[in-house]
Amino acid sequence: MSHEKVRLGIVGTGNIARSHLNGYKILKDAGYDSFEICALCDNSDERRTAYAEAVKDLFGLTPPQFSSVEDLVAAGVVDAVDNCTPHAFHHATTIPCLEAGLHVMVEKPGGITLKASELIQGAQRRTGKIVAVAEQVRRGIKARTMKWALTQAKMIGELRFFIVEGFSFEDYAQPGYSEVYLWQWRLLKLMSGGGMALDAGAHMADMIRYLFGDVRDVYCRTAGFQTPTINSPELGPMPMDVEDTWFATLGFESGLVGTWSWSFSARGERQSNQVFYGSEGSARDRGGWMHPFQAGGDITRLDGSVLPYEDIEREYRASLDSVTRERLYPYGVEDDIALECWDFIDAIQKQRPPEVDIAEAMRAKAICLAMYESAASGDAIRVRDVLDGKVSRYQDGINAYWGI
Ligand SMILES: NC(=O)c1ccc[n+]([C@@H]2O[C@H](COP(=O)([O-])OP(=O)(O)OC[C@H]3O[C@@H](n4cnc5c(N)ncnc54)[C@H](O)[C@@H]3O)[C@@H](O)[C@H]2O)c1
Repeated sequence: MSHEKVRLGIVGTGNIARSHLNGYKILKDAGYDSFEICALCDNSDERRTAYAEAVKDLFGLTPPQFSSVEDLVAAGVVDAVDNCTPHAFHHATTIPCLEAGLHVMVEKPGGITLKASELIQGAQRRTGKIVAVAEQVRRGIKARTMKWALTQAKMIGELRFFIVEGFSFEDYAQPGYSEVYLWQWRLLKLMSGGGMALDAGAHMADMIRYLFGDVRDVYCRTAGFQTPTINSPELGPMPMDVEDTWFATLGFESGLVGTWSWSFSARGERQSNQVFYGSEGSARDRGGWMHPFQAGGDITRLDGSVLPYEDIEREYRASLDSVTRERLYPYGVEDDIALECWDFIDAIQKQRPPEVDIAEAMRAKAICLAMYESAASGDAIRVRDVLDGKVSRYQDGINAYWGI
């Protein structure tokens, strides 16, 4: 690469792009100085200028601003792009960057449908550029600790089954949903590809693969009990049409079985329960919201005693040799989003694959898409058939609309 530092452009300067900015700041403060934010791009002047203020406050920089990726690319001021646009635009904003010779980190799920991801993958192969998918949950010290506890230290023995469920009521008719951009696109299938099963669900799918390996088959029922009108700037007023409820059973290649159920239309009693069972005990996730072990977890052993997360983390830290510690937590950074940003920049500089590339993200998102395909057909679905494009009934309308 001709430039010493990676010149980075942020595309889609909304909600998660703020968290990425914070991640880049953590890296700079830790002494990692291999990049510079050199351009901002968003088709909303309001969100872009507000973001520019944050860039000035945090980094003292005033990078040039663009209202389209085409203009950004034409300016030739960046080597790489951090793409935080809504799902419907992942492929359309990533591919021109790759074709102009830029590396891209695109937010999860890396394309609105499987075919959209395949388009990104095709461009990645043609250009030889790096495509990272921004999947942070597995990278934080708490999730890595629990991965070590369950799969290496085998603290609960052989893994057998899990239950993950979250039920509460959220009123989608309140103005916060119909009038705020980040919900306007999330509640319409043509913009988001699906509801929370794909959105937050992409984290859950990545993490269960990271912990337990590939899912073989899925049976799922979805429901959409709430249908308020959403004022989408892209599609005009339309009723919300993504699921607000699902019940899924996942069968893994290993034989492990899990149920995963969630609703924002559960009136009355709220509950959240995420427990992973093995032959020698169980692990309860301390967090919620489909981000397994992002907040750590506690282990209950056969004699009923509880091993608190803090003790598990202490053992994990003691188990790390210096090479592994530097690889997983460079510059002493343990924040998951900062680590995903570091992985992208470091992959570019060393010309190595990022930890989560587009193929890895597709294997995770195929679990979420298999849930929708199962709900659409009424049958159990093999995840492999979704990945191979043999099953796509749910996704066909989205692909047709966007010409994918
Ligand atoms: N990793 C996480 O934990 C996490 C959390 C939230 C969101 N996300 C992901 O981040 C992405 C964005 O989500 P968000 O919550 O930040 O949404 P958002 O609506 O807050 O931000 C998206 C931004 O993209 C801009 N935009 C839309 N179309 C554009 C285009 N064609 N060119 C340039 N800019 C465009 C919008 O104006 C907006 O500012 C999604 O893929 C989402 O799944 C990830």
